[in-house]
Amino acid sequence: MNRTALILLLLVPTLGFQILPQGEPWKAPPEADKLVDPMANDPKAVQKGQKIFTSLCWVCHGMAGKGDGPNAAALKVHPADLASRAVQAQTNGAIYWKITHGRGEMASYEQVISREQRWAVVHYLRTLKPNAE
Ligand code: HEC
Repeated sequence: MNRTALILLLLVPTLGFQILPQGEPWKAPPEADKLVDPMANDPKAVQKGQKIFTSLCWVCHGMAGKGDGPNAAALKVHPADLASRAVQAQTNGAIYWKITHGRGEMASYEQVISREQRWAVVHYLRTLKPNAE
């Protein structure tokens, strides 16, 4: 192997890290899909979730969930567009699991809001409208 090839090989992981704004794909474990939603029959779930989203989450995710909140620019990982197909295709349990456990700059909300409140936010996220695709 010549010198240039070796240098390129060493650089690839660093470049890859910088090019991928979302980092590694984030997948909830399969058991998250089976979690039981305690808010499933609560007619106020969306409203309760909206209150939480518009106080805790919008600063990064933006009011419409597009990932364009005022704090987004300061983050190393761009917050996901929560209205996107990639997010909306996940089960309620998977989204709940991510809010509960967090990853990197997306904090864990397990100790911040109650289990019911985390499920309520999931219900609210389902009302977000995707961009025309
Ligand atoms: C400090 C900024 C910040 C705040 C506040 C924040 N998030 Fe996030 N969120 C992120 C970032 C950054 C990611 C991407 C994390 C990754 O992929 O490693 C993310 C990812 C997510 C995801 C996963 C989307 C996917 O790709 O599947 C969900 C769901 C989510 N956030 C919901 C919420 C909710 C609900 C709240 C409020 C309770 C919240 N976030 C608050 C920054 C934030």
